[in-house]
Amino acid sequence: MELIKSTLKIGLEKPLKILHVTDSHIGLADERDNERKHALANRFASPEREKYFYEHLAYARDYCDLMVHTGDLIDFTSQANFDFARRVLADEKVFFTAGNHEFSRYVGEAYEDRAYKMNSFREMMPGLGAPLFFNSRTLGGVNFVGIDDSYHQFEPWQITRLKKEIEKGLPVVLCLHAPLFEQSLYDYHIERDGQGSSSYLVGCDEDHLPDDEWRAIEIRPRGITSEAVDFIKSQPRIKAVLAGHVHFSFVSELAPGMTQFVTGVGYGGVAREITIE
Ligand SMILES: [Fe+2]
Repeated sequence: MELIKSTLKIGLEKPLKILHVTDSHIGLADERDNERKHALANRFASPEREKYFYEHLAYARDYCDLMVHTGDLIDFTSQANFDFARRVLADEKVFFTAGNHEFSRYVGEAYEDRAYKMNSFREMMPGLGAPLFFNSRTLGGVNFVGIDDSYHQFEPWQITRLKKEIEKGLPVVLCLHAPLFEQSLYDYHIERDGQGSSSYLVGCDEDHLPDDEWRAIEIRPRGITSEAVDFIKSQPRIKAVLAGHVHFSFVSELAPGMTQFVTGVGYGGVAREITIE
């Protein structure tokens, strides 16, 4: 595995170590899954992906207080993937927030909106054993809050609940799948993937949306999303945002005293150890 080491200074009395892992994209199918699932499993899965995931989990168990997984744990919905997710999310050491692939039935088959997501959610009944849309856990004086922003949008109820978490008065580490728009991250994203390519950040204004109409419709902020991003950036108790989704690593400031750690692909072995002190 490839371990990146980072530090977050927020004035904790006793340091806390977390392992940030994202985008493991496990692709399993078994006799309960149909042929198309098996085709996906054959196309995208490799034993390497599971091997890296278990290496990450073993490292977190041995050396860290918490493993934060920010989604795309599985690559597509299948009974075999659900079983895998239920097994690993039952581990007390793992704090999870969902990515778009947790709800992806055939990878790129459809426009992914709330209805599509909720049908996938129903398919995984009784769930994966961990909250998928909003989650929080206090550990060592830090409040870890997970919000599913994997379709590049926030919903009003998620922000209402985030406000309640902030009111608890502890420093907050916000765990998201898709990173929030920030200019240097956007510039790096475009430079890396070539001009005209898409960025996959939440809260892009019209000047930063992809040229591709399909992508622009997915990413264009709707409802309260832009307001929610501004709200998050205005909260001094939110000390860090952890995210993945873009499949590369990048660290920048979202606001004074608020760092966004974007971590590269778990399926390629990448994980980030963050010492919070
Ligand atoms: Fe993703």
